[in-house]
Amino acid sequence: MRCSQRLILLLIATTLWMGVTANNWKKKERKRDKLKSQRDANLCTMEGNAAALHCVCVGGSPPVNTTSAECWVFTGVSKDHSIWSLFATQPHITQLKFIVRPQGLFTFIPTKGLRHLNHLKELQIMYATINEIHPYAFANSSSLRELTLSRNQIVSLDHHAFAHLTNLTELSLDENRIAEIRRDVFVDLPRLQKLYAAHNNLSVIQEGAFRHLAHLLDLELDTNYISVLTRDTFTGLGELKKLDLSFNKISMLGDLTFSELWVLEELNLENNQIELISDRAFAGLNHLRKLSLSHNRLAVLSRGLLGGVSTIIHLDLRFNSLETITYDSVQPIIPNLRNESSYFYIAEKSQEKREGCMEKKRGRLNTLKSRIGERKTRNWEEETGDGKRKSKDKVKNAEGKRLMECIEENGWQVLNGNKQGTKKGNEPILAIAGGKQ
Ligand SMILES: *[C@@H]1O[C@H](CO)[C@@H](O)[C@H](O)[C@H]1NC(C)=O
Ligand SMILES: *[C@@H]1O[C@H](CO)[C@@H](O)[C@H](O)[C@H]1NC(C)=O
Ligand SMILES: *[C@@H]1O[C@H](CO)[C@@H](O)[C@H](O)[C@H]1NC(C)=O
Ligand SMILES: *[C@@H]1O[C@H](CO)[C@@H](O)[C@H](O)[C@H]1NC(C)=O
Ligand SMILES: *[C@@H]1O[C@H](CO)[C@@H](O)[C@H](O)[C@H]1NC(C)=O
Repeated sequence: MRCSQRLILLLIATTLWMGVTANNWKKKERKRDKLKSQRDANLCTMEGNAAALHCVCVGGSPPVNTTSAECWVFTGVSKDHSIWSLFATQPHITQLKFIVRPQGLFTFIPTKGLRHLNHLKELQIMYATINEIHPYAFANSSSLRELTLSRNQIVSLDHHAFAHLTNLTELSLDENRIAEIRRDVFVDLPRLQKLYAAHNNLSVIQEGAFRHLAHLLDLELDTNYISVLTRDTFTGLGELKKLDLSFNKISMLGDLTFSELWVLEELNLENNQIELISDRAFAGLNHLRKLSLSHNRLAVLSRGLLGGVSTIIHLDLRFNSLETITYDSVQPIIPNLRNESSYFYIAEKSQEKREGCMEKKRGRLNTLKSRIGERKTRNWEEETGDGKRKSKDKVKNAEGKRLMECIEENGWQVLNGNKQGTKKGNEPILAIAGGKQ
């Protein structure tokens, strides 16, 4: 009995020891597995071909604590893929870029990944096929500063698409297919300064669409299909300095269209179809320095038009159907044209001739300025005031003479104050567009 008891005890002891050892092994193995899977499950160390997404981590000290990652989408990846939780392994990312390869399919904003990145400052997505940006798509990120979504075939922006991005200063939506900007899209973006939506399919901008963007400085809406602007289109943009509406379908500008833009300095309306501008269309633009209306269909420049915008130093009216411009209509801005950096482009008959009239010295066309500018003006005036050269005041400025000849060759008329009946003898002359057809 004793002997067998001992034997049993021994057996039990052995079994116990073996059990403990096996347990230790298992534990060690599990620990090793865990470490391995942790390493594998790092966003920065995933094997490229197997993964739907391959991220190259560069900034910081990858594979730990990387600050910058570029993620390539080779195949399809879904919104709910487990890969998005891996972004939690790199919470220090400040710059993140998604690039979709030609065979890749990427149809959404990866909100599930973004919510792990509390330090993200710059996000860029390119070549995706994102039809729609859903509400709160950017996970209410308060760290995000720059968001670039160019070339993603975006068609619609849902309400609150960019909401709660409280530190965002720059948003680029260029080269998509956005058709409409609704009133409730750009909300809660208190720091936004630059908004770019050029090269889209925009034809509708709801009234008040920008009303929450009180600190916006730069708005680019060029190369779209915008045809109607009202005073309320730009409501709320009290700090806007630059507005680009070139290459749209605008045909007329009504009274007070820009009157909400108290401090606007540059307005680009080139390449539209503008035929009609109400007298008070630019009223309220008390800080406007640069106005471009070239490549439109203007036939007349009404007398009062520039009255409200007497701060203009750059004016471009080329490529319109203007026959004449009276002294009265440009009188409000004449004093500004004495500024060395000012220019006033009136009309061009063709590229060739334009170059012929170019002032070589400054390397740019400077037509009216040259005629208005102090010394040269006097020369021409005396040269052409009544069509005859006055011998006592010889033309000294060869450049000016060259320009004068060019104007004559083109058959343009040069009128002076006398002819207009508004000015006295030796005041500046004005060149008038039009000429031989
Ligand atoms: C990663 O960041 C954490 C928290 O900021 C820090 O404690 C850790 O030392 C960093 N590791 C490396 C390898 O830089
Ligand atoms: C963002 O905020 C909205 C409402 O304020 C909330 O419904 C939504 O769940 C938030 N999203 C995230 C990812 O935190
Ligand atoms: C937002 O920007 C301010 C100023 O640049 C900065 O101090 C703050 O930390 C930012 N907020 C977040 C959540 O990153
Ligand atoms: C652009 O908008 C028009 C309607 O304004 C629509 O008919 C057309 O299909 C849109 N084009 C694209 C490429 O989305
Ligand atoms: C000429 O225009 C420039 C640029 O707008 C401005 O900084 C400068 O003060 C002007 N010069 C004069 C003499 O008004």
